[in-house]
Amino acid sequence: MSDRSTMTSPTREWTAESLAAHYVEVRDHTERLAAPLSPEDQTVQSMPDVSPTKWHRAHVTWFFETFLLQPHEAGFAPFQDTYWFLFNSYYEGVGPRYARAERGLVSRPGAHEVGAYRANVDERMRALLDRLDDGTVDKLAPTIELGFHHEQQHQELLLMDIKHVLSRNPLQPVYGGRPAASTAPGAIGWVDVEGGLVEIGHDGAGFAFDNELPRHRAFLEPYRLADRLVTNGEWLEFMADGGYERHDLWLSDGWARVQSEGWRAPFYWTEVDGVWFEHTLHGTWPVDPALPACHVSHYEADAFATWAGKRLPTEAEWEHAVALHAADDPAGSLDRSASWHPSADLGAEADAPRVRQAFGDCWQWTSSAYLGYPGFHPPEGAIGEYNGKFMSGQMVLRGGCALTSPGHARLTYRNFFPPGARWALSGVRLADGGAPSEVGR
Ligand SMILES: [Fe+2]
Repeated sequence: MSDRSTMTSPTREWTAESLAAHYVEVRDHTERLAAPLSPEDQTVQSMPDVSPTKWHRAHVTWFFETFLLQPHEAGFAPFQDTYWFLFNSYYEGVGPRYARAERGLVSRPGAHEVGAYRANVDERMRALLDRLDDGTVDKLAPTIELGFHHEQQHQELLLMDIKHVLSRNPLQPVYGGRPAASTAPGAIGWVDVEGGLVEIGHDGAGFAFDNELPRHRAFLEPYRLADRLVTNGEWLEFMADGGYERHDLWLSDGWARVQSEGWRAPFYWTEVDGVWFEHTLHGTWPVDPALPACHVSHYEADAFATWAGKRLPTEAEWEHAVALHAADDPAGSLDRSASWHPSADLGAEADAPRVRQAFGDCWQWTSSAYLGYPGFHPPEGAIGEYNGKFMSGQMVLRGGCALTSPGHARLTYRNFFPPGARWALSGVRLADGGAPSEVGR
């Protein structure tokens, strides 16, 4: 999910008042996330995939300015012509833009000036929303709601990006939170799913991005899905068994990355005197074997599954099983802000096995390439650039993570990253088409 926004399906009933209230809520949340960060923190770009915090704050503002104020504000003029250029992410249809990999070089405007930009656009958006009547609410609500979800996507990216920025500081600064108490979960259980001809994709109720449409049929052989995520303890077993040294476990491109980049553990793990430590937003701590393994690439997820004698689920398998058997509610608030990190699995309840940790811990790699669903058509205009043009060379992740904004996760949500990406908060849920067995062998 890199600097993305996209087009929406029909939405809930909005009024001018509810749009204005939700606008304030979403915009304030971004500022709360940025508040612990100094202007210097907010300027650093630690690698090309990472954007500075202040860039996220400005870009989501640019989105409202470009797609709402420009077409609908009387006598519109940009807040600054240069911002139009600096804070366009990738919209060719809007005009030229600054190189993504060099966003960290933009020391001016500073974080405080970005704050002034936000305040200006907020004021003008408030005026626009105040003028809406019933007819214009219906006309503008889908784009305004898209702006809300776009900003929430960047809230998650802001956190994933600052995690990387802080990881490169030898003083190991803390963003916030503290470790959560945990106890080791039991062995993975398996949720049996009959399969057959099923339907996946957004059903038309509430918000969805265009890539979740259209809802369509998919045929699934009988399968089973793990009831929890793979843990750090299981990942340590994989490592101890030569997981990063056995070419037979790896896809060819993955093995090449192991060799060229020296992978021997998840992205944020460091070995000190024989002990593995993990960098988190609440500091650097010994690896907790009870917590979900995270910050692994698709290649690592696939190699782990091969080692375990299992496989990754397809996105249709994930969605169908979670629709039938989820223990979590995606609309519920899975607030992980006490630790800004995935939590340990709490274990199975007494009733039939259910899919736990679906939405609030780690995005889960699937074996599905990120492609358009049958009948997918991007919307017209610049806003249609958002999803369709990225449908090449990326893999789908499902669920949500500990950094996903409350209310943003959704059953049909399709996240996507290149298979070698590791800085996203990605983890592993196994699938199996045969008899159950223990993880590891
Ligand atoms: Fe964006």
